Amino acid sequence: MNILILGGGGREHALAWAFAQNPKVDQLFCAPGNAGIAEQASCVALDILDGAKILAFCAENAVDFVMIGPEAPLAEGVADVLREGGILTFGPGREAARLEASKAFTKEICAACGAPTARSQTFTDRDAATAYLAAEGAPIVVKADGLAAGKGVTVAETPDEAQAALDAIFDEGPGARVVIEEFMTGEEASLFILANGTDFIVIGSAQDHKRAFDGDEGPNTGGMGAYSPAPILTAEVTERALSEIVRPTLAEMAARGTPFQGVLYAGLMIENGAPKLVEYNVRFGDPEIQAIAMRLGAQLLDAILACAEGRTAEGEVNWAEDHAMTVVVAARGYPGDYARGEVIGLPAIDLPGAQIFHAGTKLRDGEIVSNGGRVLNVTARAATLAEARKRAYATLDAIDWPGGFARRDIGWRVLGR
Ligand code: AMP
Ligand code: GLY
Repeated sequence: MNILILGGGGREHALAWAFAQNPKVDQLFCAPGNAGIAEQASCVALDILDGAKILAFCAENAVDFVMIGPEAPLAEGVADVLREGGILTFGPGREAARLEASKAFTKEICAACGAPTARSQTFTDRDAATAYLAAEGAPIVVKADGLAAGKGVTVAETPDEAQAALDAIFDEGPGARVVIEEFMTGEEASLFILANGTDFIVIGSAQDHKRAFDGDEGPNTGGMGAYSPAPILTAEVTERALSEIVRPTLAEMAARGTPFQGVLYAGLMIENGAPKLVEYNVRFGDPEIQAIAMRLGAQLLDAILACAEGRTAEGEVNWAEDHAMTVVVAARGYPGDYARGEVIGLPAIDLPGAQIFHAGTKLRDGEIVSNGGRVLNVTARAATLAEARKRAYATLDAIDWPGGFARRDIGWRVLGR
């Protein structure tokens, strides 16, 4: 098979690395890719939001399957264009991608299918929203409705903070929509599902670390590290999440005539064994999939293809009794301003069981240079999470890049600090 992966971050490098191990693959393309992905795939300069151009590329290069990595092309309807053009594609169409692209839509779906989630109300009117905030008090959570790359959510500890977040959203201009929701307590974990209509495969669980600095301090980021599996998602809790949240959601989407095909990423809050939905994403978590891909290797593509082709029963994966961890190396200053173009010295050999996935790099005169906020994802797998962590940090310590920083406490919830 010839396969095209859309995207150019650590998620897509992990996908390319896993796909490249599968004997089904003849040619692997990635658009736009990065310096690390270039080792497994031919990187091509294509606008990943332009469905017609991607379709033309697929025709010219006999591409059999397109894997869409990030949310932006999904929200744009690229999967619809590719499927209408006869290309086997993994990822939801525009309508189903609203599960990530609109928080208000997800709330509507949860209400319609009875999935447990934070109590909320959606507003387009500033005065009504302000009155609701005043009545609710704090802590409270204020969310901009649309895609915001993880920046549209404020967990407000005081009414003033909540009001400031609300004002910032409405100050953006007309058409602003805001979801105000109850603050949930508990422990967060993510469950990853490959879905096709109402059929699905569970592809793993993970826990992310969203704050920039050790001890969960500092600003929110896209994720500074993750491990898989998430111990809090026991078999019982997972079954509850599937039966109370995932199955009803998939059934509701199908009943509306917009069946979901792709990755359903359920962000869950778990308290006393009861899961509630925090949010859906419609793509793999980044950096969560780096840890999951490390555990699954070549099987990941088989599961994705089985799901895309409507053979989910054949896509069940064989789990080893293993653990994986990924630690993000980011450019100093991230998630604020940071430098690009700094030379990165990578260790000459991989440590056993470890991989360095590239998230934001490019090649410049044969050297690898930084080209983003999150730059490298050092990922390791082992029989225990403690050993996986040791391997990941040993590899990380062999990287020569003074301009980078990483959290040193990934996994603290499970392993202690
Ligand atoms: P979201 O983009 O909806 O996942 O929100 C980003 C982060 O904000 C989540 O991962 C949670 O840590 C936090 N968060 C969102 N909604 C809530 C809520 N209702 N209660 C508590 N924390 C929340
Ligand atoms: N790591 C969080 C996300 O991918 O949304």
